[in-house]
Amino acid sequence: MDLVDVDDLTTDELHAVLDRAADIKAAQEDGTAAQPLTDQTLGMIFEKPSTRTRVSFETGMTQLGGHAIFLGPDDIHLGHGEPIKDTARAVSRYVDFIMARVFDHSDIVELAEYATVPVVNGLTDDAHPCQTLADLLTIREHFGFDTSVAWVGDGNNVCQSFVLGAAMVGLDLTVATPEGYEVDDDVLARADELGSAPETTTDPEEAIADAEVVYTDVWVSMGQEDKREQKLDEFEGFQLTTDRVGDRAVMHCLPAHRGEEITDETLESDNAIVWDQAENRLHAQKGLLVWLSEQ
Ligand code: CP
Ligand code: NVA
Repeated sequence: MDLVDVDDLTTDELHAVLDRAADIKAAQEDGTAAQPLTDQTLGMIFEKPSTRTRVSFETGMTQLGGHAIFLGPDDIHLGHGEPIKDTARAVSRYVDFIMARVFDHSDIVELAEYATVPVVNGLTDDAHPCQTLADLLTIREHFGFDTSVAWVGDGNNVCQSFVLGAAMVGLDLTVATPEGYEVDDDVLARADELGSAPETTTDPEEAIADAEVVYTDVWVSMGQEDKREQKLDEFEGFQLTTDRVGDRAVMHCLPAHRGEEITDETLESDNAIVWDQAENRLHAQKGLLVWLSEQ
């Protein structure tokens, strides 16, 4: 079983992973944590930079009794002549899990197809399911799932996986993007199948009006640096300011570009639950790895 996107899990499985994550988090906090992945190894392939994903997966494996190997762009042959399918089959002969952060979503699909161990998507241009697991854990801890969330910004990888996860757990979600930056139709159709597609709008105020939580991400994602000027221009009016957010909780997957999608004041305010979100990457992924090891 792989996690290429959130909807590789059934809704019951998604709740089971979140429950497992919460149990592991509680055990770590009260000093009773077990090490169910002793002697197991996670291979971590990174084509793009990472702080949270890299450190949380590596630390998570250590805490679970296992080990993680960082495989950056200059460390392995992937991208320098060896096809993905060969990397997938060879690395599968050594490790127990593969986590990969790649540009093209089709690359993780191919990796998962050829690998013989579970493959976990650590972000592609289209999806970021591990972030969604942590986001849902954070929302569940703070508000439960009977709450309303507004996504304000780009209909990007983080947004798309969140749309799917939100549909699965029944969050009331509205997505506000500038015209031309909407969530893919395919993702909206999958969300609809899973529960309900979010409301969509190009008006951030309309999305925020009835929301308890406001979520944003960078306007210029990794690999889009050449579109920077154009995007900064087209996203004008979508910034999360303290005035706009009011007393709502604020989420951001990080890293944040202060002064672009969010002001420094908003990110530093007590409304921001971004550090809980970041911490929950660790717990959510530990829950996922342990759950995958039992399938
Ligand atoms: N949110 C997230 O995935 O952060 P990194 O890019 O630092 O891994
Ligand atoms: N949308 C951002 C998320 C980073 C975690 C990017 O792809 O760069």
